[in-house]
Amino acid sequence: MSLTDPASFVRENTRPNGVPLVPEIELFLADELVPIWQLTEEELSESGLPPPFWAFAWAGGQALARYLLDHPELVLGKRVLDFASGCGISAIAAARAGAKSVLAADIDPFAAAACALNASHNKVPITTTTDDLVGQSTNHWDVIITGDICYEQPLADQVTGWLSQAAALGKLVLIGDPGRTYLPKAGLEKLVSYAVKTTRELEDTDVRNTTVWQVLG
Ligand SMILES: C[S@@+](CC[C@H](N)C(=O)[O-])C[C@H]1O[C@@H](n2cnc3c(N)ncnc32)[C@H](O)[C@@H]1O
Repeated sequence: MSLTDPASFVRENTRPNGVPLVPEIELFLADELVPIWQLTEEELSESGLPPPFWAFAWAGGQALARYLLDHPELVLGKRVLDFASGCGISAIAAARAGAKSVLAADIDPFAAAACALNASHNKVPITTTTDDLVGQSTNHWDVIITGDICYEQPLADQVTGWLSQAAALGKLVLIGDPGRTYLPKAGLEKLVSYAVKTTRELEDTDVRNTTVWQVLG
């Protein structure tokens, strides 16, 4: 297990798990938050690291995945970007739904490793990148999906501005969000809501009402 080998780290600290809202997809996930977080900190010998978001399927990503599997026409034959992809649940759903290509972007290299492992486990082709794409051209994609990114104000502000620009250029832009504080109050259209089962380790409730929003251009 080594910092230079995120793939081994992910594999050794997760196990295949089902996600109730999306039974079609099995993911390598952690059972508990705290041990893996500590392990990551020990591994990296640093403090102030971000939590291992990649070790869980967050409510926003689950909702997006459910919506795409139920509405495959939205991504069929399309070039899809899953921004802030974490474990890759939404990216995998997009690929399953028939996307022409899927890029999963997450700045955390452990997330990229988790997504690659999960894509392979679910037998779908997904490319990963750790490049920070915020503010970059969105010309390469027809559809941009992003799950659970409005939990921190600076990130939410930067990303939602960039996503609004992409929507104005005619991209289909979808956000899965379980009522996070920094979700914009305007410029979104509600598409569907799900009651997503969560764990008390991650959330302050057992079920999160989670909405898929379309960003208006
Ligand atoms: C709460 S997790 C959500 C992961 C996944 N979308 C889901 O719903 O399960 C947020 C993710 O955003 C990623 N992230 C934060 N800033 C980012 C950026 N500038 N570019 C790409 N990913 C970013 C984090 O590394 C983390 O994996």
